[in-house]
Amino acid sequence: MSDGRFQRWSASFPLTRPFARHSAGRLFDLCAGFVYSQVLYACVELKLFDHLARAPMTLGELSTALQLPLESTRRLIDAATALHLTARIDDERIGLGEHGAALLGNPGVAKMIEHHAMLYRDLTDPVGLLRGEKTSTELGRFWAYARSAQPSLLTEDQVAEYSDLMAASQSMIANEVLSAYPIHRHRRLLDAGGGQGAFIAAVAQRAPDLELVLFDLPPVARRAQRQLDQLGLSERVQVVGGDLFKDSLPEGCDIVSLVRIVHDHNDDEAHTILSSARRALPRGGTLLLAEPMSGTRGAEAMGDAYFGFYLMAMGSGRPRTTADLARLVEAAGFEQPRVIATNQPLLTRVMTARVSS
Ligand SMILES: C[S@@+](CC[C@H](N)C(=O)[O-])C[C@H]1O[C@@H](n2cnc3c(N)ncnc32)[C@H](O)[C@@H]1O
Repeated sequence: MSDGRFQRWSASFPLTRPFARHSAGRLFDLCAGFVYSQVLYACVELKLFDHLARAPMTLGELSTALQLPLESTRRLIDAATALHLTARIDDERIGLGEHGAALLGNPGVAKMIEHHAMLYRDLTDPVGLLRGEKTSTELGRFWAYARSAQPSLLTEDQVAEYSDLMAASQSMIANEVLSAYPIHRHRRLLDAGGGQGAFIAAVAQRAPDLELVLFDLPPVARRAQRQLDQLGLSERVQVVGGDLFKDSLPEGCDIVSLVRIVHDHNDDEAHTILSSARRALPRGGTLLLAEPMSGTRGAEAMGDAYFGFYLMAMGSGRPRTTADLARLVEAAGFEQPRVIATNQPLLTRVMTARVSS
């Protein structure tokens, strides 16, 4: 396939031409991916999809609404339409395209797209990152716990932005996890690294009889407490502030969830967290892991390319295959690791494991 003559032949021969075109298109997408992302970023920053959600608009109306010159509006809309973010309704009007409409339904994705500006600045020198030459990154500062020796001393200011981002993207994850796993069968759940309570609030709705405990760093726990108070859940959820690496997890629960936690950490730290969860659980207790995983069929690029490089820029952790995770949970003393199918494995996969009874 690297031979120039073969490439020319396969592009001109009628039977191989479709494959050659498809392959060239995919390679071009790899070359141009950053440009596509920037088109999307511009749409999100300009709130283009929110404008179009009300009604289709003409170029002139959009130019006024977006405060862009008419020619720039045309350029943006041409690019966005080519990427199925917008669509031409007729000769005059532009509406939402397939992806633009999907984005509107998931506000957490728009927040991630805005957040990516930081990631892309860190990735301007990927080789430097791979060589470990660039030790200070924007993502490293954003995820303040990732490189902190004493994360429990972080201030609320240092955790606010990442906690809000996690909360904004949590509803999609919670929906996946709770549709896949019958959490109501349990008696008391501990959500370790539970952020400001978005997952546990979703659990509270699904399983009205389940007792709930949330554990996170003290400044995050304070934010969680305020959120849960506002949602009227303070009676149902016990909030505990602490450090996963220094403090024992609260006991008395029959299930511990780790949602988007393990991939943030290197193997030694992941082992410490899982062992701590194991100690907190009684015989027969359940571990529930939920995160995007490496080697997910049909979403390999998400795990191995996107998360692999994202976590490298953050400075800690790696995406793991189900086999890697099974080894880790077994090394921490759990048994019967089991992958549970989710509807959108791209967003999250779920693994459970048990303490022997
Ligand atoms: C990627 S976020 C996931 C939050 C939440 N589970 C979710 O999915 O939305 C990781 C969480 O782990 C918490 N965390 C990180 N290091 C911690 C530590 N040493 N002790 C306790 N919590 C920690 C962070 O504060 C953050 O809330």
